[in-house]
Amino acid sequence: MTSVTRTITKRKQSTKVAAPIVEALKKAYENPTYQFHIPGHTKGNGALPEFKSLIGRKALCVDTTDEFDNLGTLHPATGPIKEAQELAAKAFGAKKTFFLLNGSTAGNLALAMGLTKKGQKIITNRNCHRSVLTGMIISGAEPLWLIPNRFEDWGIWGNVSPESVEEMLHTHDDVSMVWITNPTYEGVVSDIKSIAAICKKYGVPLIVDEAHACLWNFNEHLPTSALHLGADAVVHSLHKTGGSMSQSSMLHIAHGSMLDVDAVEKALKLLHTTSPSLMLLASLDAARANLESPRGKKQLARAVANAKFLRREIDKMEHIHHLTPDFGYKTDITKVFIKADGLSGKRLESILEIDFNIEVESASDAGLLLLSNIGNKRSDIQYLVDSLKKIDETHYSDICHLENKKHMPMLTPIIEMSLREAFYSEKETIPKSQAIGRISAEVIAECPPGIAILLPGELITEAHMPYLNDYEFIEVIK
Ligand SMILES: Cc1ncc(COP(=O)(O)O)c(C=O)c1O
Repeated sequence: MTSVTRTITKRKQSTKVAAPIVEALKKAYENPTYQFHIPGHTKGNGALPEFKSLIGRKALCVDTTDEFDNLGTLHPATGPIKEAQELAAKAFGAKKTFFLLNGSTAGNLALAMGLTKKGQKIITNRNCHRSVLTGMIISGAEPLWLIPNRFEDWGIWGNVSPESVEEMLHTHDDVSMVWITNPTYEGVVSDIKSIAAICKKYGVPLIVDEAHACLWNFNEHLPTSALHLGADAVVHSLHKTGGSMSQSSMLHIAHGSMLDVDAVEKALKLLHTTSPSLMLLASLDAARANLESPRGKKQLARAVANAKFLRREIDKMEHIHHLTPDFGYKTDITKVFIKADGLSGKRLESILEIDFNIEVESASDAGLLLLSNIGNKRSDIQYLVDSLKKIDETHYSDICHLENKKHMPMLTPIIEMSLREAFYSEKETIPKSQAIGRISAEVIAECPPGIAILLPGELITEAHMPYLNDYEFIEVIK
């Protein structure tokens, strides 16, 4: 094969997977109209020149919404948007897929709003994302908290045991669903297959918040998605790790799901903007097409290989350690949670940032999280490894102390009032110093990771104080 034919074959390979929204948007771009409709910047002509030159004229030209240019509509799904959702459902192994704007947050809100009612119970892990809680505030459902394993040495939450789910289902009536976050932010995987079997036994649907796991269906070295393990619905933040643009996510309904899909769809319609960004929708379409393409598969294989390399190199270091699979739980290899002897995660984060210009996904009390992404080159990982080696060999003894603020809430709540009742009760704002013994009226769940420190209706105790150092005042029930 000559180098010219090789290039052509390569180019053909990378464009082979259909991406209907991308194609429709390209067509609209190439056939511009005289525009007398929103968005008012009118293909960028009305935009600030500095902004236009920063993001590019083309980006503003394709910034349109779903009513124009034969691009289809999101609610109800029609045209290229419908086709793209169907292709996504096929790629992820779902019966139906909804594209989400406002992230997986929108999916979680719609699931709670569409499928649960006031007073019903939702069994969920305490380290669920705050969007699950907001969903309960909207619907009036109440959480029954599963307390996952705590990995004290690592300062993080671990897996949810199937036994704890079974015990909850056995002791409570009126459970509308079980809702599990899998994996955790740090990549710890729970036994979803067993949890799904238990849910089936009790006739209760299982939702799995896989916000951090949209890559799993595209590489055999990653864990299995809950869509193939008996869950009824799954959310994926494609924008987190899948390569789409920020805020764009997917909600999948599984084959054989027992959920009322119409109710979810109606809730989504009410929660979504009425002016969906075609650029974000196209980026979802493009991310799915990329992950299915030979090029995307290669990128993901490289991300897995990079993660393995990083872990092997950390194994050679004396003072830096990484979280590995253990008995009872697996991990997603691309999420590398590390800690360094004598340094808090936050300290390690600032050393990496200030001395090495490296930004990490997040840092907490004990360690920090590094993502091996589909967009990372081997040279990025090599630079990270070299930097970690330098830290491992250097004595950062001058800053060898723990922060006085805690970052990863690992508290067992004391519930005094229902979530919704507390959220809508009369409130007052008081100095934090007077808050112990009062009932919280606000959701305090800082991002990342968006896990609750305090929720409306929960008693504020001494144990909360180390997490609240940035707060001068707190909203409590009057
Ligand atoms: C477990 C989990 N679920 C849902 C979300 C919300 O996702 P999004 O940012 O896509 O709205 C997050 C965000 O961090 C998350 O960690």
